[in-house]
Amino acid sequence: MIDPTSSLRDELDRVGEWIVRYFEHPDSYRVMPQVRPGDVVAALPAHPPEIGEPFDAILADFEQIIVPATTHWNHPRFFAYFATSAAPAAIAAEALAATLDVKAMLWRTSPAATELEEVTMRWLGELLGLPPAWTGIIYDTASIAGFTALAAAREALDLAIREEGMIGRALPPLRIYITQETHSHVEKAAIALGIGQRNVVRVPCDDAFCMRVDALRACIEADRAAAMRPLAIVATVGSTSTTSIDPVREIAAVARDFGVWLHVDAAYAGIAAIVPEFRSLLDGVDLADSLVVNPHKWMFVPMDLSVLFLKDEAVVRRAFSLVPEYLTTPEADAVNYMDYGLQLGRRFRALKLWFVLRRFGAEGIRERLRGHIALAQEFAEWVNAEPEWQVLAPHPLSVVCFRYAPAGLDDASLEALNASIMHAVNATGEVFISHTKTNGRYAIRLAIGNLRTQLSDVRRAWEILKREAASAAVPRPR
Ligand SMILES: Cc1ncc(COP(=O)(O)O)c(C=O)c1O
Repeated sequence: MIDPTSSLRDELDRVGEWIVRYFEHPDSYRVMPQVRPGDVVAALPAHPPEIGEPFDAILADFEQIIVPATTHWNHPRFFAYFATSAAPAAIAAEALAATLDVKAMLWRTSPAATELEEVTMRWLGELLGLPPAWTGIIYDTASIAGFTALAAAREALDLAIREEGMIGRALPPLRIYITQETHSHVEKAAIALGIGQRNVVRVPCDDAFCMRVDALRACIEADRAAAMRPLAIVATVGSTSTTSIDPVREIAAVARDFGVWLHVDAAYAGIAAIVPEFRSLLDGVDLADSLVVNPHKWMFVPMDLSVLFLKDEAVVRRAFSLVPEYLTTPEADAVNYMDYGLQLGRRFRALKLWFVLRRFGAEGIRERLRGHIALAQEFAEWVNAEPEWQVLAPHPLSVVCFRYAPAGLDDASLEALNASIMHAVNATGEVFISHTKTNGRYAIRLAIGNLRTQLSDVRRAWEILKREAASAAVPRPR
């Protein structure tokens, strides 16, 4: 048996070769695999091996069991959710980060990881046009970054919740203002922070799925009159369903008037502010308290890397810093990232961001984002040009919501029809799309964000959509 700690060169060579071959033809796989729940479990042994196995055997199972049961996000015709893909340099950086394997909780456990995070956060903030005094911190996901921002907002209320908790105290209900379009992680954060789902207020939207500022003001006034305490407003720049953009500047004025924390969730769309003609996406964000953007969504950085920018990072530290004796250090001025969240040990995530920023340069990233947006706009034109198809929402970026809508069918029939078209398209294995609802209407959603997606891929998706629509059984009106 080969010693498992002495075969690195061979193992890396094999894996490197596999990765290179994979990226030569990610489109040779079905985008969505043909598997059912439980298939992978059934294909694997029920018990762990007692004796170490040859690398060959593991790699063979990876190829034969894991890869065929994988949904290929790298496939150029992956158009579901928010389509993403990892830059080669970032994949290489992940191998280096795993090699160094630092736990970046204290400056002294990882000086380079800590300081590279500071540098890449400054670079990213500058590219996004954020105030230089803002601080960026890396988290795994926007969900956790958003949770952290709301925990900071709760701390900023000075209600001694950190010390005394929330149970058995005469605290007013704390209220968070969102819309029907806000990502669900905000509600989860409200659950985890003891605020309660019932205290998450859905402010009505306008016709373009954006928060109505007059309605926000009215909600806050009503809550205050009822002795409730507004905690935070969450504005979204690039909502998950339609990429709608809340009017941050006007919302910020309301937040200021009532002294409420404003968090901006720009997980997907915020990155586009790197492109000068889309800089206005973040208009008014300098008036907010916190902002989330996800380089792992639309900046070719592999999962997981989400950034929380804060006007005043000290509030997060107030919320989370807790230093047991065994973690005290003599470097009084150093940043210790364990102070900024629940997690102690942290991965060296800044490394892959640094590699991407340097390998592409700002121009390289802008060029790709412009390309994705242009492809989506072209797709929307094709849909608009067909009398039986409808675009269902504004599409300022790289996502289009649409449906097949032959005349004479009500919304319920169109839902059944479009769901069947989407399933038929996905069953081809050539394309993967997903769906949402816009104002209660079922919408097929096509999202472009993959480095390898070309016009021909979008064209192929449209051909398949039209073909499946033409052969779908059109339900009779109810
Ligand atoms: C607007 C928005 N916010 C937050 C999230 C959650 O992202 P993550 O998976 O990084 O938690 C998403 C996911 O798509 C999103 O679209």
